[in-house]
Amino acid sequence: MIPKDPVNIVEVGPRDGLQNLCEYIETEKKINLIKSLAESGLKEIELGSFVHPKAIPQFRDIKEVVDGVISIEEVKFTTLVPNLKGAQKAFQSGIKTIIFVFSVSRSHNLSNVRRTPNESLEELKKIKELSSSYPGVVIRVDLATTFGCPFEIKVMKDDILSYVEKTGKLGIKEITLCDSVGFGNPRQVEDITTTCMKSFPEITFSAHFHNTRGMGLANALAAYESGIQSFESSIAGLGGCPFTPGSSGNIATEDMVFMFEEMGVETGVNVHSLLGISRYLKEILPGVNLESSLLRVGIPKQPEIDLHS
Ligand code: COA
Ligand code: ZN
Repeated sequence: MIPKDPVNIVEVGPRDGLQNLCEYIETEKKINLIKSLAESGLKEIELGSFVHPKAIPQFRDIKEVVDGVISIEEVKFTTLVPNLKGAQKAFQSGIKTIIFVFSVSRSHNLSNVRRTPNESLEELKKIKELSSSYPGVVIRVDLATTFGCPFEIKVMKDDILSYVEKTGKLGIKEITLCDSVGFGNPRQVEDITTTCMKSFPEITFSAHFHNTRGMGLANALAAYESGIQSFESSIAGLGGCPFTPGSSGNIATEDMVFMFEEMGVETGVNVHSLLGISRYLKEILPGVNLESSLLRVGIPKQPEIDLHS
């Protein structure tokens, strides 16, 4: 029996979506996009990354983007950080929840942040120490390549559990299990999410799936049935990692909201507003492949005439 507990939908389009675009999106357009997303009822939005502008030029205006929206009180705004320097800049900008990313896969972590996973954990330790100077801040960890790696393909379950344990020992209470490349399948997702939740009840887990091989929503549903209640997705299915060969879009936020709402699971998000934003993105990004089912076929309307009467 599928549960009916409400879900929290976390919008990562302004970060995971935009980081892969060649085209630079002007600051004002980014701010307008984020404001529209906030108006659709989303309660958490990832704004971008505090990284070196040479690593991801799209985020060279991250400070201005944060300044442009941080006063919106109803929404939790987060930013991704790959290292101590990024964390420092994020805390100084007023961000209260930072997302520190590292990968279970050694090769992927080296490619993404030029560190081994254990070196990233050392960095996380320093960030945790730094955070004591910023009361009330939260550090969440994005555990990338949890369900597969583009270089090593299979990721060992023992490695996942070991990095979750090491992360927890540093005092981190929130971890997002990320299928960075869309390699996961529903049975594997059920196994990993269930094992993580049972083994580490003190940690709150959320999930992040890509739809690279068409299994994004099936994986989200498998995670939901296992008890995960918070899911990351990206408006219009924008997305991908520039350091991951073959990476493509996240689950489109409108498709995820539509699935849960159709199942009677509350999201608190207006799917019509989301579709409006997706249509706007299609207009301003004509060359970009947007993998959103609702954008392709629309939302079914109620028939105007009751055929049974
Ligand atoms: N923000 C701004 N500048 C930064 C920075 C940050 N978070 N981290 C490092 N830098 C700067 C340093 O000041 C230095 O600048 P300089 O050349 O002008 O002196 C330069 O970057 C190199 O610093 P270094 O300490 O060698 O960098 P690093 O090895 O600690 O980190 C990364 C390299 C991780 C910052 C870089 O590879 C990166 O940002 N990758 C992007 C990761 C990502 O976002 N992936 C996609 C999401 S999953
Ligand atoms: Zn992603």
